[in-house]
Amino acid sequence: MTKIRKAVLPVAGLGTRVLPATKSIPKEMLPVFDRPAIQYVVDEALEAGIEHIVFVTGRNKAAIEDYFDSAYELEATLEAKNKADILEEVRATCPKAGSMSFVRQQAPLGLGHAIWCARDIIGEDPFAILLPDVLIQGKPGCLAQMVEVYEQTNSNVIAVDPVPADEVNKYGVIDPIERQGAMIRMRGMVEKPPVANAPSNLAITGRYILKGEIFRFLEDQAAGAGGEIQLTDAMARLMAQQDFYAVEFDGTPYDCGSKLGYLRATVGMALHHLALGDTARDVIKSVL
Ligand code: UTP
Repeated sequence: MTKIRKAVLPVAGLGTRVLPATKSIPKEMLPVFDRPAIQYVVDEALEAGIEHIVFVTGRNKAAIEDYFDSAYELEATLEAKNKADILEEVRATCPKAGSMSFVRQQAPLGLGHAIWCARDIIGEDPFAILLPDVLIQGKPGCLAQMVEVYEQTNSNVIAVDPVPADEVNKYGVIDPIERQGAMIRMRGMVEKPPVANAPSNLAITGRYILKGEIFRFLEDQAAGAGGEIQLTDAMARLMAQQDFYAVEFDGTPYDCGSKLGYLRATVGMALHHLALGDTARDVIKSVL
């Protein structure tokens, strides 16, 4: 079985729901407590054994590339000032040389198109996709849990999270066939189904492991909902030929793509911070 070595992180979206904060800063660089949102997602990928990350970027996203680089002057200053702890943290953000690539999506034509832009770097092997809008707190991380299911099934895998039954009409949900623990064989996906006839309450949550054949479908995928080239449309075509499993992961997802979701993510990550979590709890209580 081919190991999952590469991951695509699409970061070319415009982030209109969190404007004006994202007017001159990529939303992926907004701090969630003590680090940029994107750092949590990169850490989740590395923990799952990913060796190479492909960012699909767009205009105004240069700050992401700079963040994952060495910062010579800053490091020299911290060293001169004997700030060893901070220096170590700053250096830890710099990846192994050659382990990150950046490709441009010249126009935001949709998530499916963004993933397709990574095709030459990914090649034919199965790979992971992590939407950096969604931060997931969990030990092991969500992608590590998915890799385990991939290794058991050698199939496409997507992450799902249960949502209240009367809210399924806000989500894309899966159509399950059978369940074995957290692993669910599935036959389809439905975007925003009416509450009365939704096939499940298991919402698709921004993490995927897909076989390389997805690129064949993305190649000629017509625009779908919102006039954008949708990843889910191409996945539905792949599903007609290959098995798909969903994983109901153990963890808490935070949707950072909206203002209130971002607030929730910040509070959640602060409360779970290893060194500062307890103090953060006191600070939050004092504000309330
Ligand atoms: P979203 O639609 O949630 O992100 O896309 P957005 O477009 O940045 O957000 P709003 O709606 O304007 O506030 C989900 C993911 O797909 C990426 C986004 O960067 C995000 O990570 N994406 C979306 C692209 O990379 N390119 C696109 O053309 C569309």
